[in-house]
Amino acid sequence: MSTQRSLSRRQALLYSAAGAAGLALGSVPRFTANAAAAARPLPIPTLIDARNGEPVALALQKSSHRFGLGAAVPSTGISSSYLGPVVRVRSGDTVPFRVENRLDEETTLHWHGLLIPSDVDGGPHNSIRPGGVWTPELKINQPAATHWFHPHPHGNTAKQVYGGLAGMMIVSDGGDRDRGLPVAYGVDDIPIVLQDKRFGRNGALAYEPTMMDLMHGFQGDTLIVNGAIAPAASVPVGFVRLRVLNAANARNFDLRFSDRRPFYVVGSDAGLLAEPVEVRNLVIAPGERYEVLVNFSDGQPVALVTGPDIHHGMGSGMMMQMRRAPGSGATETFMTFNPDPATKAAITRLPRQLKTLASPNRNAAIARRTLVLDPMIGMGMGMMGMGMMGMAARRGPQSDSSAAAGGAGHDHAAAAQMMGINGRPFDMRRIDVTTKLGTTEIWEIRSAAMAHPFHMHGVSFRILSNNGRPPNPAQSGWKDVVLVEDRAEILVRFDHPASAKMPFMYHCHILEHEDHGMMGQFAVV
Ligand code: C2O
Ligand code: CU
Ligand code: CU
Repeated sequence: MSTQRSLSRRQALLYSAAGAAGLALGSVPRFTANAAAAARPLPIPTLIDARNGEPVALALQKSSHRFGLGAAVPSTGISSSYLGPVVRVRSGDTVPFRVENRLDEETTLHWHGLLIPSDVDGGPHNSIRPGGVWTPELKINQPAATHWFHPHPHGNTAKQVYGGLAGMMIVSDGGDRDRGLPVAYGVDDIPIVLQDKRFGRNGALAYEPTMMDLMHGFQGDTLIVNGAIAPAASVPVGFVRLRVLNAANARNFDLRFSDRRPFYVVGSDAGLLAEPVEVRNLVIAPGERYEVLVNFSDGQPVALVTGPDIHHGMGSGMMMQMRRAPGSGATETFMTFNPDPATKAAITRLPRQLKTLASPNRNAAIARRTLVLDPMIGMGMGMMGMGMMGMAARRGPQSDSSAAAGGAGHDHAAAAQMMGINGRPFDMRRIDVTTKLGTTEIWEIRSAAMAHPFHMHGVSFRILSNNGRPPNPAQSGWKDVVLVEDRAEILVRFDHPASAKMPFMYHCHILEHEDHGMMGQFAVV
């Protein structure tokens, strides 16, 4: 593991995955011993606590990984068998990264949520060839929040992220203790990376998207948390912070607890909220992060579950009407929490005020733009019918027996012509938008055919309206992804430079849509 050198220096500070697992196993309450014995302890990724000026090494590599109780299967990971370490950086520090590509294909590593100049952003222009090393120096200067990093190679992001290349990054400002928020990593401040997978008959990850999968986004039938199927976490009998990241390729999760207990949103993508927002369910789209507090002081085991993805797929008006409201419908289980009286709870009260958050000022905007996200540009019903019949779109070297059914050279290339923004598919040589450094604009995002999670690099924004209404309280803070069902207005401030040679990206975070053209480039000058 390439991080070994930097890890060993402060090993005492780290919770290794194995250590945390042992702890969780040893402290399973007796009354759930049977159920928990079968469940795997929640894997807690290694914490890399970055220090100013000290290099952090990350290696994108092939590996093998056990998702469930069965055998290990081929996987990829970032200095890990699957997913990556959690990298915690402090605002104000400069952290030199050393990113090594040990894959046999090109990749990049994008810092999703970091407010840094475009030349170190890790977008499609920051390509790292196989065997290559990329050494960006990141000057961290932004509010405390939960971010992540993942590959962003042109046309190949979905497959690489699906295979396991993603990790969480925490920006800390050192103020959480004073805010009354949990801060003990892996104990009451827990990373929760949510994904959905399909496993082939051989137990290996299967990524063989059909034309339907490309059009709707690839969804799995098995939920995993931190790379484990249905794990269980031991938690203190008090308030616990979950840093929830939706790292799925395409699926929206509708989170709630099995006993429908309330929980409290304290942060969204790009920063803390003014105060905790009580919810009983929370929709989280691909790329989004929410920090939530959960009260386990009743000592009862409880499951984190998701309702159906009501936004999935393209709907006619009739299909839309059949969709259920969020918060209803059958649920699937992500994982279980087992409160353990033997672990002392650090936080037993809900904090009141977290920070001051001014309301967004519409009048600050000097320009207004409209972007239409469309998965079927220039596509007639006839062609759509062909797509619906399930023409397989074969991509990549992975092969599963079921894929042989595909065929027809009509595939990736065809899909690449279909998806776009404002009628144009992504082109790495075209700058779609140029904004002025230090100014603010209103972008109106419209979704065609289905809901799309819209994301921008190098900025954070506030949602002014979504579906014609003000955003709900959990979405009223700083964001960098917005799930657009119909239309949304966002107020964006452009504070980080991007040349036309090395632009920032904006795109749909359904990774199949991004790869197939639903992405654009903007310069900030
Ligand atoms: Cu999370 Cu352009 O990405
Ligand atoms: Cu991003
Ligand atoms: Cu989309």
